[in-house]
Amino acid sequence: MKILITGANTGIGFSTAEQLVKQGQHVILACRNPQKAQAAQDKLRALDQGQVDLVSLDLNSLENTRKAADEIANRYGSLDVLINNAGLFSKTKQLTQNGFEQQFGVNYLGHFLLTHKLIPVLQQAPKARIIHLASIAHWAGSIKPNKFRAEGFYNPLFYYGQSKLANLLFSNALAEQMADSTISNNALHPGGVASDIYRDLPKPIYEVMKIGLVPTSVPAKLITQMAIGDEWENRNGDYVSAHMPDWRSPHAKNQQLARDLYAQSMSLVEKYL
Ligand SMILES: NC(=O)c1ccc[n+]([C@@H]2O[C@H](COP(=O)([O-])OP(=O)(O)OC[C@H]3O[C@@H](n4cnc5c(N)ncnc54)[C@H](OP(=O)(O)O)[C@@H]3O)[C@@H](O)[C@H]2O)c1
Repeated sequence: MKILITGANTGIGFSTAEQLVKQGQHVILACRNPQKAQAAQDKLRALDQGQVDLVSLDLNSLENTRKAADEIANRYGSLDVLINNAGLFSKTKQLTQNGFEQQFGVNYLGHFLLTHKLIPVLQQAPKARIIHLASIAHWAGSIKPNKFRAEGFYNPLFYYGQSKLANLLFSNALAEQMADSTISNNALHPGGVASDIYRDLPKPIYEVMKIGLVPTSVPAKLITQMAIGDEWENRNGDYVSAHMPDWRSPHAKNQQLARDLYAQSMSLVEKYL
């Protein structure tokens, strides 16, 4: 199977790629940093199993994301699984190249565009799966269109929460729209996982936090099952957790909110489709 993973050079994405390659799958690593991407590909190729390709993808730019999706479509023609994994936590206010708050722009809106551009490619497979990396942190967010561009006071946790809630609502909206199609959509919380995502935290705080974190191999195992496991063949619109409770917040259960966000996002990326 051909499986594309965004942000696969490190962390949960890399670990997932490793488990899939060990099972003989064809994995495409979609990464922004060429040196880190090359190092990841070299490590995975050294396993001498499956197939490992690289695609350049920077979700910080809708133009770059559009080009990456076109390249993927041209190179592969069909895809069996799309794993929307790339993500970051920004503790200071930063904007994407298109002027969106960075966590909303990279974690969510870039993936929204990428996914839409790749739906025709996923439709070429007999059955396809889209997996969305959300988070229990979605409880900390709500959807505030007047904050998509980070106006006013910057609360990093709210913005990370908004982006992860948006990931989960996107999964729910697509699951509803595509219920009768060949493509399924499911989301997960990977648990509290030791990875570079916490790179901006003060070191002493991270050292204490790390005690409660699980290794990347834990969510990678769940994502691998969601991607290729028979038990996930007929699941659609689910939200599960690798390590902690999988409770959805009231916002995350609100299907009208999912539809509204979907319509707003479509108009934000329209000219790149
Ligand atoms: N770790 C946790 O406890 C935790 C908990 C809940 C949810 N999650 C979610 O799990 C996913 C993976 O996180 P992780 O913990 O594995 O983090 P990570 O180790 O920091 O990996 C994140 C990946 O995303 C990539 N990325 C960041 N910005 C990008 C951009 N503009 N374009 C393309 N790729 C970009 C990074 O590339 P670089 O290496 O070049 O920076 C890296 O490959 C994220 O969606 C995160 O929100 C993580």
